[in-house]
Amino acid sequence: MSQLTVAIPRGRNLRPSVELFKRLGMDFSGALEDNRKLIFEDPASRSRAIIVRDTDIPVYVENGAADLGVSGKDQLEEQDKSIYEMLDLGFGACRLVIAEPASLKEHDDPRRWTHLRVATKFTNLATQWFRDQGIHVEVIKLYGSIEIAPLVGLCERIVDLVSTGNTLKANGLVEVETIMNVTARLVVCRGSLKTKTARINTLIKDAEKSIAKNPIKD
Ligand code: PRP
Repeated sequence: MSQLTVAIPRGRNLRPSVELFKRLGMDFSGALEDNRKLIFEDPASRSRAIIVRDTDIPVYVENGAADLGVSGKDQLEEQDKSIYEMLDLGFGACRLVIAEPASLKEHDDPRRWTHLRVATKFTNLATQWFRDQGIHVEVIKLYGSIEIAPLVGLCERIVDLVSTGNTLKANGLVEVETIMNVTARLVVCRGSLKTKTARINTLIKDAEKSIAKNPIKD
């Protein structure tokens, strides 16, 4: 059996990802207990997991440093890496939205937008969406806590992920447009699929069956 390296994102998709691989016979449960260790070996299944930031998953997989990984559809679209997206895993559901202060929404009409400034981690997706709508946009790149930007005058609107809506609410922001719906995807390195075909294809089939029978919850 070929040795496999899987890339698992830290954060909210960590636990469901560990469950996914457990169902596939790989035990990385140590990752749920020790948040400083970044690599977990499972000799019994000839596999190991690396725990990385969600933004870095496509990079590890594209370069073959990981054979497969779990990535949000948001990052796949934003980064457009040369990797295979094999399966919608169902968990990690959220949406990429445009949000603004509730006070602004009272007199705002998205149909009349012509020129905007937005802050976001998703510069490519934001630029593309506004371009498609024929709206001139100035995009400010941030790396986290995006919701602060409109509160201190960096911009009026943000493009960010919303899951429960709690972060927007806590900061007095409301959604005005949805850019895309997001779930976690199983992604595979192109080279690995060529060299470890049998093992990877079996895993994908097993994952598909298992999720269809019993969806993985967030
Ligand atoms: C994400 C996202 C929002 C928040 C939304 O941030 O960027 O800020 O979660 O979740 P909610 O709708 O359930 O409140 P994350 O926690 O990844 O941290 P970040 O701000 O550092 O990106």
